[in-house]
Amino acid sequence: MDRTLNWIEMDKRTKRIASTIFLGIVLVSILIQFIGAPIEKRPILAEAQFPKEINTILKRACYNCHSNVTDLKWYDKLAPISWFVKKDVELARSVMNFSEWDSTPAAHKGKSWAILNMVKSERMPLGKYLVLHPEARISSSEIKAIENYVHSLSKDAFIGDTARKESANKEFEIWKQRKFKTVGKHLEKPDHSDGTVRSSPNEIAYSDDFKKWKILSLNTLYDGTMRVTYGNDIAVRAIGEEQIDPFPNGAIVAKAVWEQVENRYGEIIPDKFVNVQFMVKNNSKYRDTEGWGFAKFSTQKRTPYGKTSDFAVTSCISCHRLKAKETGYLFNVPLKTAVQK
Ligand code: HEC
Ligand code: HEC
Repeated sequence: MDRTLNWIEMDKRTKRIASTIFLGIVLVSILIQFIGAPIEKRPILAEAQFPKEINTILKRACYNCHSNVTDLKWYDKLAPISWFVKKDVELARSVMNFSEWDSTPAAHKGKSWAILNMVKSERMPLGKYLVLHPEARISSSEIKAIENYVHSLSKDAFIGDTARKESANKEFEIWKQRKFKTVGKHLEKPDHSDGTVRSSPNEIAYSDDFKKWKILSLNTLYDGTMRVTYGNDIAVRAIGEEQIDPFPNGAIVAKAVWEQVENRYGEIIPDKFVNVQFMVKNNSKYRDTEGWGFAKFSTQKRTPYGKTSDFAVTSCISCHRLKAKETGYLFNVPLKTAVQK
């Protein structure tokens, strides 16, 4: 008799505990909805222009993260899911935003190739997103449509066109021989047809020295360009000794970007020179960009990129930060054995 009573008692207690826990969960679920700010509302500043067919695909599959027109499902807005969604949207907007689009032909083309690259390799839309948003899935015929569009933006690489080959060779000769004088301040000299180069707005001066540095990598980004990445002695030594977390002050890497053409023998050669980009390590000087100073100089004239010194915060660091932990902010870090003789 006693036993049964006990049992009933316990059962009641367990029930009470269970319902308290349940209520607790409900309460916490409600309360956490108030934690964290919602996704920032931003206006459409410069809408990306694509043909209608492509636009429809991008709007359906990519805009939720990569634009200021974020139209989320109710469950995306529920914490804790909403916290992860917010992080993805912020990161996605910072690397590519269809509502804040740089529509200069070169920038549009570059991003279009990146888009093709991502959808073709099935890296975008993010796999975890597709689980709850099957409507964002892209069919193979849609990928084909994107591919046709992106290819239409590029002139065909020449096939045995000697004039083109000569112009490519000439371009390379100019690049090799040209020696620039750098003038100190960024805004001192608006015109530099006299062979001088203004420094970048964050005061990184251009120098041709990198042409003599060790090559860290040679790659092509599937966008019709080839890239040669160089490292100065300090950078090369750091990689050889695996001291890249973080890289030591004084390390510099440079990346020269060329349009590429294929000749009739299947050789890929550099064509037009596009730009050279630098990353300069100095923890005290470049605090705003996590210790790396960024600079970009375009065309054979080496026109510096950026209007004010904070350009790197808005235009460079977001992508490179993705590599902060893994390889000290750099994408092209060869194996240490590759730089040791
Ligand atoms: C759920 C959010 C989400 C969706 C949807 C999404 N992306 Fe992304 N995308 C991201 C995030 C986050 C990053 C940055 C981190 C990374 O590369 O993984 C990114 C990076 C990219 C980049 C790299 C930018 C660069 O130049 O390095 C491209 C290109 C891109 N996405 C294209 C697309 C395309 C095209 C679609 C639609 C087919 C798409 N994304 C859909 C979240 C998303
Ligand atoms: C949209 C993403 C993105 C942005 C924004 C970006 N980069 Fe990069 N950067 C990359 C990727 C990807 C690579 C490696 C592929 C390659 O070699 O082009 C790279 C490589 C480099 C390299 C060669 C060293 C390395 O990391 O491998 C330098 C130098 C560089 N970037 C400078 C810059 C500068 C300067 C800016 C701003 C003007 C900038 N980057 C903005 C994605 C980005």
